[in-house]
Amino acid sequence: MLIAGCSYGQHIGHLVANRLKAKHSNLIVSKFPDDELLVRFDAVLKNRIVVLVQSFYNEISDCLIEAILAAETAKVLGARKVVLAAPYFPYMRQDKRFHRGEAISQRIISGLIDKYFDAVYLMDPHLHREDKLEHIFKIKSKKLTANNLIAEYIKGNIPNPVIIGPDEESHKWARSVAEMLGVEHRILKKKRYSSYHVEVKLNKKVDLKGKSAVIVDDIVSTGNTIFKTAEILRKLGAKKIYCICVHGIFVGNALDKLKKKKINVVSTNTIPSKVSKIDVSGVIAESL
Ligand code: R5P
Repeated sequence: MLIAGCSYGQHIGHLVANRLKAKHSNLIVSKFPDDELLVRFDAVLKNRIVVLVQSFYNEISDCLIEAILAAETAKVLGARKVVLAAPYFPYMRQDKRFHRGEAISQRIISGLIDKYFDAVYLMDPHLHREDKLEHIFKIKSKKLTANNLIAEYIKGNIPNPVIIGPDEESHKWARSVAEMLGVEHRILKKKRYSSYHVEVKLNKKVDLKGKSAVIVDDIVSTGNTIFKTAEILRKLGAKKIYCICVHGIFVGNALDKLKKKKINVVSTNTIPSKVSKIDVSGVIAESL
């Protein structure tokens, strides 16, 4: 097996390779003056299972093109199998035509992955109406989760937690983490008006006296879902508010804004940042 870290997967690729004691080599990527990408392997690929580790953030489109160029190259150069291990994989949220004429991006992007890879491993993909990866990808697929690691982190670092899921979909993370810890939880209802405008409400009150309110969600993007949730928790008397997420996208200065509002944020390292304190490389290594 060869673990090949792509541009946005190197931070995890080498950890996965170390854990598996597998050969490791970063993909060499350069850009022409007009922004075209060129990829090159600096390792023997023939008869090897090549695992491309790519997290798709910042330059999502480049990440996709890079992974596809690398996958096809690996096959042509004799790889036995080409596997995509994606700590963060995008385009999963647009799973239907919400407005007339829109692309169903999830279907199109998964189709591309089917074409170039033999298997795909995704860490906590954001799935809505269809929860099974086998119904989204035609190739072998596996959904991995950081829930265990998040529960462990809370257990070791946050006293008296009450887990809060900021919207209905967050139950896959929030409820499951609360159950692992055997603590109380609440799931809020969210209405999204636009990418930057959300409203959340809590239907059943929760006593936060002497407790730590811990918001658990898969993605923090603009941070607005967390701001709105934190407002409600403060009104309920929460003194300490934490937010633990899998994928800290933190668009623009979201992280600074969360800090200013005194929300203690921690994420996994699917997308590296100064708050990625939970390492998911073990989950990826184990699945491979
Ligand atoms: C969506 O349902 C996700 O679970 C997150 O709640 C959402 O992506 C967060 O977005 P934002 O940080 O922009 O409110």
